[in-house]
Amino acid sequence: MEKPLLTGKRVLLIIAGGVAAFKSLDLIRRLREQGAAVRCVLTEGGAAFVTPLSVSALSEDKVYTSLFSLTDEAEMGHIQLSRDADLLLVVPATADIMAKMAAGLATDLATTALLATDKPVMVVPAMNVRMWEHAATQANVATLELRGVLRVGPVEGDMACGEYGFGRMVDVPDIVAAVSAHFKGDSNPLKGRRAMVTSGPTYEAIDPVRYIANRSSGKQGHAIAAALAGLGAQTTLISGPTKLPDLAGVTTVHIESARDMLVACEAALPSDIAICAAAVSDWRMASEAVQKLKKHGGEPPDLTLTENPDILKHLSGPGPRRPQLVVGFAAETENVVANARAKIDRKKCDWILANDVSPDSGVFGGDANTIHFINADQAEAWPKMSKTDVAARLAARIAAHLNGKP
Ligand code: C5P
Repeated sequence: MEKPLLTGKRVLLIIAGGVAAFKSLDLIRRLREQGAAVRCVLTEGGAAFVTPLSVSALSEDKVYTSLFSLTDEAEMGHIQLSRDADLLLVVPATADIMAKMAAGLATDLATTALLATDKPVMVVPAMNVRMWEHAATQANVATLELRGVLRVGPVEGDMACGEYGFGRMVDVPDIVAAVSAHFKGDSNPLKGRRAMVTSGPTYEAIDPVRYIANRSSGKQGHAIAAALAGLGAQTTLISGPTKLPDLAGVTTVHIESARDMLVACEAALPSDIAICAAAVSDWRMASEAVQKLKKHGGEPPDLTLTENPDILKHLSGPGPRRPQLVVGFAAETENVVANARAKIDRKKCDWILANDVSPDSGVFGGDANTIHFINADQAEAWPKMSKTDVAARLAARIAAHLNGKP
């Protein structure tokens, strides 16, 4: 007989305070059926929905509830509790607990364990649709994902509060499947692959103190680098100046100009995957002034521009070092699909993710994106989603493509 999928795995299940907490009871049984040892932390809010007694009976273990319990600390300190597990699983992950995780708060046993752990963390969000869509929650989720926290769901559906939309927790079998996939290594389908991602704006010097730039935030490119690294790719992020922190598990090369970006890209070759998400300045000064340009009371200076190298086109060009998959972005204000197709022809890249950046789209600097995925024979409209979800979807598609799945 085959061994159950989770034999020998230790899961620390953190049950937070949401209506979906009752599903964690079934989850404990299903995880244990698959061979996992499940130890539970119940938050104060969680205990309003499920009793410590049921949790303890189902897990056949003690339930941990309080940070300052002397007996608990004597038997099993909170640091050890967080590290004894192979995976920390937060079900349901409420808006509140994810906000605390993103902020690094350690106000109770659950958040302290989450902050103290050196093990993978998976969150399974469940909340009202407005709470899920709130900019604060989306920003917190993005922060957690950039730090490598795994996420399952939420999905669209009816909610306990009577509303309909995104925020509903995935079903228990889906959580067990995600946990199993994590342990099976399915979460590392890009292991052994090299990836490079350009991100952010470029700065083109006018003189020693002034420059030409654009409003790119780097959020999309950074999220893609995090997603590729999350799937196991050895990832180099070549980033123009942004306000974003460097990503854990990603090699970040900071550059300013398009020409520097090109040099850094060359240095990152060979690479299996190249994603050009940077908003590279099309032009730079024909000749950069060595000294600060002065007002002389007469005519303003003549800023003669010259074209920058096209990095995407350069990387897509034929040769032994061409990455197996080169992906570009197209920011369009009209005829999104047709213009993106023309761009594939012109630049010889493999895929284009085209987005509408017309002034009312909110893409620049925002957290959401509406993408058209385009390659030689497909044009697919993706629903509006967060930039982290775009990144996850793209990374999964890249993994499937390189591993020969349709
Ligand atoms: O030509 P356009 O700027 O619309 O093309 C956008 C795509 O090309 C993006 O993927 C961008 O990162 C890339 N690009 C580049 N180098 C440039 C200009 C654009 O890599 N100089």
